Amino acid sequence: MASGNGSNFEALVIASRNQVVKADISLLIVNNPNCEAIKRAKRLNIPFVFLNHKEFSSRIDYEKEIIKHLKNNQIEGVVMAGWMRIVSNRLIDAYPDRLINIHPSILPSFRGIDAIDQALKAKVKLTGCSVHLVEAEVDSGPILIQAAVPIYQTDNKESLSRRIQTQEHKILPMGVSIAGRIWRRS
Ligand code: GAR
Repeated sequence: MASGNGSNFEALVIASRNQVVKADISLLIVNNPNCEAIKRAKRLNIPFVFLNHKEFSSRIDYEKEIIKHLKNNQIEGVVMAGWMRIVSNRLIDAYPDRLINIHPSILPSFRGIDAIDQALKAKVKLTGCSVHLVEAEVDSGPILIQAAVPIYQTDNKESLSRRIQTQEHKILPMGVSIAGRIWRRS
């Protein structure tokens, strides 16, 4: 599931095609009809569905529709790869321990929106990114993998985002592999 640029979605597709992750990325769900992720899905030949949250009267109804598409496509695990909507227990309970999120901070620091700005404003020397299983509280749940990224004095949002994303593209496939090992044991 993606809302924006989709670079993490693409990194995951490439990793699965290179057999770095034993997964078949078979569907992309987007909530933004103009997002770059759609262009990537077309180029990579991955089916996608646009589900407009504005057309639903509640989060639960919207998630019911998402779940319908996931189940119809026999989806076994879900990755929120830059999915910029809060998810409720409806979706979490439909995919218990099978819903993964990537977030641009070392959680539990800097949860929520603008995590990179939050780190810059806090003037910390180290931030990074986390891949975790999703629980109901925003950006919380068991951590699968994290990467640390130093913040330099010369950094601005663009330069720091770029370095965090380089790490995200590495740890997201690793996090999905770790989750897969957990799933196989359960
Ligand atoms: C990523 O940096 C991801 O960590 C962040 O959105 C970006 C999406 O980039 N997610 C969140 O902030 C969720 N709280 P992408 O569209 O290029 O993959």
